[in-house]
Amino acid sequence: MRAYGHSSRIRKEDLGSNNSTFEHVGAIVPTTAMMSATKSSYPDPQWWKEAVVYQIYPASFQSHPGSTSGWGSIKGITLRLDYLKSLGIDVVWSSPICQSPQADMGYDISDYKQIDPHYGTLNDVDELLGELNKRGMKLMMDLVVNHTSNQHPWFLESCGSRQSPKRDWYIWQKPRSFRSDGTPEPPNNWAQILGEANSAWNYDEKSKEFYLALFTPEQPDLNWENADVRAAIWDVMHFWMKRGAAGFRMDVINLISKVPGYPDAEETLGPGHKYHPGLKYFVNGPRLHEYLREIHREVLSKYDTITVGEMPGVSDETEILMTVGSNSGELRMIFIFDLVDIDKPNVRMALKPWDVKEMKGIITRWQRVMIENNGWNSVFIENHDNPRSVSRYTDDSDEWRFKGAKLLALMQITLGGTLFIYQGEEIGIRNAPSTWPIEEFKDIETINYWKKCNDLYADDEDQMALGRKIIDMKARDHARTPMQWAPVENAGFCDPGVKPWMRVMDDFKTINVERQVKGNDTDELSVWQFWQTALLYRKEHADVFVYGDFQELSTQDPKTYVYHRESQNGERWLVVLNFSRNEVEWIMPEDVEIDFWLCGNYTKGHVEKPTRHVVSLQAWEGILGRCK
Ligand code: GLC
Repeated sequence: MRAYGHSSRIRKEDLGSNNSTFEHVGAIVPTTAMMSATKSSYPDPQWWKEAVVYQIYPASFQSHPGSTSGWGSIKGITLRLDYLKSLGIDVVWSSPICQSPQADMGYDISDYKQIDPHYGTLNDVDELLGELNKRGMKLMMDLVVNHTSNQHPWFLESCGSRQSPKRDWYIWQKPRSFRSDGTPEPPNNWAQILGEANSAWNYDEKSKEFYLALFTPEQPDLNWENADVRAAIWDVMHFWMKRGAAGFRMDVINLISKVPGYPDAEETLGPGHKYHPGLKYFVNGPRLHEYLREIHREVLSKYDTITVGEMPGVSDETEILMTVGSNSGELRMIFIFDLVDIDKPNVRMALKPWDVKEMKGIITRWQRVMIENNGWNSVFIENHDNPRSVSRYTDDSDEWRFKGAKLLALMQITLGGTLFIYQGEEIGIRNAPSTWPIEEFKDIETINYWKKCNDLYADDEDQMALGRKIIDMKARDHARTPMQWAPVENAGFCDPGVKPWMRVMDDFKTINVERQVKGNDTDELSVWQFWQTALLYRKEHADVFVYGDFQELSTQDPKTYVYHRESQNGERWLVVLNFSRNEVEWIMPEDVEIDFWLCGNYTKGHVEKPTRHVVSLQAWEGILGRCK
């Protein structure tokens, strides 16, 4: 299926006239040479570099006909493979599907080799793998091994007795002290990540010690210092690779090594807070690289894999390059969080002002770092832990949402690295509305956060309003609403009459896959059609967009982002993005001349714009052109 008529190999003559009607306006015009930094190296082509990965949140993607659970399922995923193929997807990454009490939506696994009944069976996975294979697609598993569920047999065995053979598989510590009433105090002041008002340590009455659970008490951290734990994890990884997985997204993999002695965190949350983020003592801890190399040696080196490490809280170049440098012997790539954490102060459920200049700086920085140091980027702007990108980085009003979503698509398909798309991003799903009652939010982090607001500020209207605003802007729930397939009951996510586990967005009748795949009669592509077309361009010109050099060009308006990408043989493309609601002009450097503007987010076909001197952009407009 193609969104519009011309061949994907673009010829200038197909594109009609694009003569400049603008005269040079006489400002000081920079040349690109003035802005060029070091030339890039061009990395070796690899399938996992060119692959487009699609993240599925299995609870919310697709239920299968006849299911009454209101949850998505593996059978549902299999039913949608043709859809994903037609969009241009090569690899499917599903958030965890293994057996889990679902305290944190599957990121609390109680059996790594069984499938959670919500999602199906191992047979369903085998069928999914077979169907992926038929279409030349692959499956990436979500490997959650910083912690297990507190219902995992390993933990059940570890708990309760200090003599248990599995005691050392988790992190146990004696109380630091006892209050006068005998209540034990946790070993240090680290806060729980998904409920920062609480301690990250939990007391086991029976054995009179605390265990560490960085996220929630239901997610005890494994003790990676123990070689048997590591061996058990290699075993799990081999199990999935042998079954046919192509690799892993590794959940919070940079938290697996903790600083011995578990020192107290600085009191960054201010007075009134007993517990504080202890990131310094477990983000990229002392033995991380040793463990990652061991994973490589023991497992990954034996297969042809795609791996991406989730690595929140790290922005240090040397540290990151140790993991993703071409000869690192660790992982293929990681998720760097600078962009999605742009509005994060020290905890996620809080707000920090940011601007487009900062956003440009982050993107340019990581593009350049990887090019100059022979590392590899992942390109992403959404996932199941973040609000919707169209709401966050552009304008999600009915008037601008489609332009905004396509602007972000254009940016992402022209950035170097392996591209990750999150379910619903391809149709521009936006955040849940602020009119939704708080009960519609199901995520443990949101629930804990709202509870904290109520405990601390029940009588303070302003603080409560701020708390709600933070939920409206930041809650993970925004990414977890059921996929909007069609303008029918439950948006086609589950059968009519079945209650979905989470409320479907109210706008599903206008925003849905069916409508966007068909397109409409306007002269614009739908968000979906734009993604589909743009992905074809990316693949067709992988030497430019996936592997090429990246240079940012200066702009007069701070909200305009301009960069060019250039292949090794000198083919150069220019991307001009207006991240604002204002019309802007960009004065082009003297030595930049566009051969043709291939596409933009305002038109169906090619773009009629001047090719030299000055180009003007409408609100949230983005254009892509080939340079002469
Ligand atoms: C990762 C997951 C997130 C989960 C956390 C704990 O950040 O993406 O959803 O809550 O790890 O497993």
